[in-house]
Amino acid sequence: MNLTTSPNSKIFGTVQCPGDKSISQRVLMIGALMNQEMTVDGFLHAEDPLSTMSALNQIGAGITVDKNGLVHLSKRQKIFQNAEEALNLGNSGTGLRLMLGLTSGMGLNLSFCGDESLSSRPMSRVIKPLTEMGANIEASNGMLPISLSPALFHKQYTYELPVASAQVKSSILLAGLASGVGVEIIEPVQTRDHTERMLKHFGANVEIASKGSKNVIQLSPSNHLQATDYTVVGDISSAAFLIVGALISNSPGLEITNVGMNPSRTGVLEALKKMGANIEVKNQRLESGEPCADLAVKKSTLKGVELSGDIIPNIIDEIPILSIAAAFAEGETVIRDAAELRVKESDRLKAVSDGFSSLGVVHKNFEDGMCISGSSDTLSIDHSASIKSHDDHRIAMSFLIAGLKCSQPIIVEDCKNIFTSFPNFIELTSSVGYRLEK
Ligand code: S3P
Repeated sequence: MNLTTSPNSKIFGTVQCPGDKSISQRVLMIGALMNQEMTVDGFLHAEDPLSTMSALNQIGAGITVDKNGLVHLSKRQKIFQNAEEALNLGNSGTGLRLMLGLTSGMGLNLSFCGDESLSSRPMSRVIKPLTEMGANIEASNGMLPISLSPALFHKQYTYELPVASAQVKSSILLAGLASGVGVEIIEPVQTRDHTERMLKHFGANVEIASKGSKNVIQLSPSNHLQATDYTVVGDISSAAFLIVGALISNSPGLEITNVGMNPSRTGVLEALKKMGANIEVKNQRLESGEPCADLAVKKSTLKGVELSGDIIPNIIDEIPILSIAAAFAEGETVIRDAAELRVKESDRLKAVSDGFSSLGVVHKNFEDGMCISGSSDTLSIDHSASIKSHDDHRIAMSFLIAGLKCSQPIIVEDCKNIFTSFPNFIELTSSVGYRLEK
């Protein structure tokens, strides 16, 4: 599915932020493990969380969705079961890495597969610590296909993360929770803490302490979780596309309601504010243990900034759209310490650079980032440019937003992966003044 942009549009009005992908996936896994009655509202019905749901159902979780989109978990008599067919996690790194932790802790016999992108992503980062915990995992060169067989876990496990990754941290926590093993994780820099918050919300024994710049998370071996109905807050990573769209299209004003404001995710707002963005945070509240708010975005002139160091894990998913903001900001933006982007759904540094080359955005590449020379003027392109999405949802949406500020319509190729994280992107952008043609 290729999409063509309509230049000279503005993004304005009010929209509701779609549900958070990371939280939607976690609530299914932790909810299934609790094995109690529970209803989830605000769930993101996108391909990634849905592939996690069907993988959980394949091992007997019995999760259902009603006609209003509410997700229901129930109390089952039968415990989790092995599956004959491989669990297919599609495009989802979070789905696969967290499910590997959860199901190895359950002691199941399973195999896993995924799409082409997921099959080329590194899984040793979870296989190594899970194996050290006691899990029996076979993989092909640290990648899919992967199979699991039951194993005896050690009593207590301590791991210092070599890369700042919430997926690795969460995989170990879920393995600990499912196997009843006490876990201590030391992360070099704080990464998104949805798993810790959710576990605490349901009554798990989790303690978090900072040791200098490091973060230490401790999960005790015995936990009595108590399910309660849960509301998933909106995904700030999805809101980021609309925010940048409003900023670069000189919007008369865009309001986005129900945006998740977990401090381990709000670096994108910090970065944009540093660039000069006028974003007001209103109605701050707490929803199922996660902060959330409404955002009012106003017309602003952006300037280049440096993004590096400890903020990077916090903005890791927003760097592609921040790069688009940088292309329309006066001066240079330097992004460093972001080599992790090379192993996301695509090599996102290369994908952004390729798109910039097609649009004529001046930039320089580094192994761990790039330097973008921006301008607040509309990008003048002589003929309709075609941008490759590299089959990556965030690359596709980033360049579709860039199209707001191009002199001609641009085509973004292969946009079907948008459905992995933001299924109503086309309808939602159209409702705030920006039409994308199929
Ligand atoms: C996620 C963590 C991040 C992020 C991904 C979602 C999560 O990955 O890029 O989109 O839900 O835990 P890493 O933890 O591998 O950096």
